[in-house]
Amino acid sequence: MTETTLLVSKIRNGTVIDHISGGYALDVVKILGITGKTNGIVLIAMHVPSKQLGLKDIVKVEGRELEPEEVDKIALLAPGASINIFRNYQVMDKKRVKLPSSIRGIVKCGNPACISNSNEPVQTQFYVKSQEPLMIRCHYCSFLMEKEDILKQF
Ligand code: CTP
Ligand code: ZN
Repeated sequence: MTETTLLVSKIRNGTVIDHISGGYALDVVKILGITGKTNGIVLIAMHVPSKQLGLKDIVKVEGRELEPEEVDKIALLAPGASINIFRNYQVMDKKRVKLPSSIRGIVKCGNPACISNSNEPVQTQFYVKSQEPLMIRCHYCSFLMEKEDILKQF
């Protein structure tokens, strides 16, 4: 997209989550804990034409950098997303999120009988069985979870 057709303005300091697969912007906003009550500028663009993705979403958050756990969660629902950090309009850091082959501690197993849901101090762990559509398998009980199940927890 050229400057003349820029949909939402640039931000001075903060984070731009770009190349979010079309339709997931509001889930990203939720992961970041942004509600209407939060301070700071938040710009959301949905279903923007993109050469690589067809349609993409963008979320821009002024005055904020992301926690590693937030980045890991975004990787689960928008594996192609890029995270750009700007200070005084200059790019400071630019990286692609990466879906790890093993996901620890971010997702709760949906099987109530799983040992990770007992009182044992066991950290949840899943393996990626399929990336598209996303399917992850519990290390302990082999329970399968898909993107929609994961999104409900965020
Ligand atoms: N952006 C912004 N504020 C800035 C600079 C850039 O909101 N001060 C946004 C741009 O609108 C774009 C994203 O951040 O959505 C990445 O911009 P840029 O770093 O200029 O990279 P591009 O070449 O546009 O894209 P790519 O990520 O493919 O390199
Ligand atoms: Zn399990």
